[in-house]
Amino acid sequence: MKDIIILGIESSCDDTSAAVLKNGVLLSNVTASQDVHRAYGGVVPELASRAHQQNIVPVVDQALKRAGVKPEDLSAIAVTLGPGLMGSLLVGVSFAKGMATSLGIPLIEANHLQGHILALFLKEEGTDTPVPPLPYLCLLVSGGNSQIVKVDAYNKMEILGQTIDDAAGEAIDKCSKVMGLGYPGGPIIDRLARQGNAEAFKFSKPHIPGLDYSFSGLKTSFLYFLRDRLKEDPDFIEHHKADLAASLEKTVVDILMDKLAKAVRRTGIKDVAVAGGVSANTGLRNAFAQKAERSGWHTYIPKFGYTTDNAAMIAITGYYKYLDRDFCPIDKPAYSRVTI
Ligand code: KG4
Repeated sequence: MKDIIILGIESSCDDTSAAVLKNGVLLSNVTASQDVHRAYGGVVPELASRAHQQNIVPVVDQALKRAGVKPEDLSAIAVTLGPGLMGSLLVGVSFAKGMATSLGIPLIEANHLQGHILALFLKEEGTDTPVPPLPYLCLLVSGGNSQIVKVDAYNKMEILGQTIDDAAGEAIDKCSKVMGLGYPGGPIIDRLARQGNAEAFKFSKPHIPGLDYSFSGLKTSFLYFLRDRLKEDPDFIEHHKADLAASLEKTVVDILMDKLAKAVRRTGIKDVAVAGGVSANTGLRNAFAQKAERSGWHTYIPKFGYTTDNAAMIAITGYYKYLDRDFCPIDKPAYSRVTI
């Protein structure tokens, strides 16, 4: 049988990434991140699209070279069509369309959120990572999303609950910015939290019915708390950095886990995965391990490198769609907003 070789391309936000997958096994995954946004404390869309323009050719070239694959060997090109920043998406989508057309091979549409969820199914040569059985629940937590998704099949997913305002990662990033810690705040808060007391401070938790999340109240409560304490001690943040980080992280993890536990009780599904950038968080990973030990959940966490934005997850999405001959018309436009 002919090999199925997929090139995946991801450019939805501030990472330009390309990956090559052969018969479902990852051969390469190359990502160029954009440091330019650090100075602004958040992604600047115009700068992101400019950087994608500079990075896309060398990143795709490197991914093919590392995989030992020539463009003519490719079976199809999978690209993130959305959701994301339009100027960023257009770089990857236009490149993928041009390349697929010139090679005469199919283009495959990948949804960024679906990609995060399917990252769990990535296989590397010589490794045997357990994959969840279907159906399973997936907590998708990133800078732009906080959702509980029931995954019935790679192309059949149902959102059971989602944030009604900010995403978990966004809330962490904003609180970190208020503390003057830099961007992105997630990894910095994680590092600091390891040295702090998670019970030192209490921040408000939302009372939202059902399985939906809300993180904007936490952000405001954190801001007001700091404002009041800074009046008493101008160096409050400096003196309590680690405790603030640990207490903030614990509040976010508690909020995420409470609703996830509710979803497990409602559906009776105990196979539970986590995906998206925030799944790199140590506190969240520990909470998952505890649930596995105490409540009998079977938990699945993608490899560290595939938690944040990457093209490997786009390539695996493309692989499953290729098997179904689920191709994308060449004139389908990128989209900035959509759910799974
Ligand atoms: O999935 P992702 O790379 O991009 C989006 O599609 O949003 O997620 C980025 C988010 C950011 O908010 C970042 O601060 C957060 O993931 N993040 C973390 C950690 N690493 C990244 N949050 C908490 N702890 C971490 N270790």
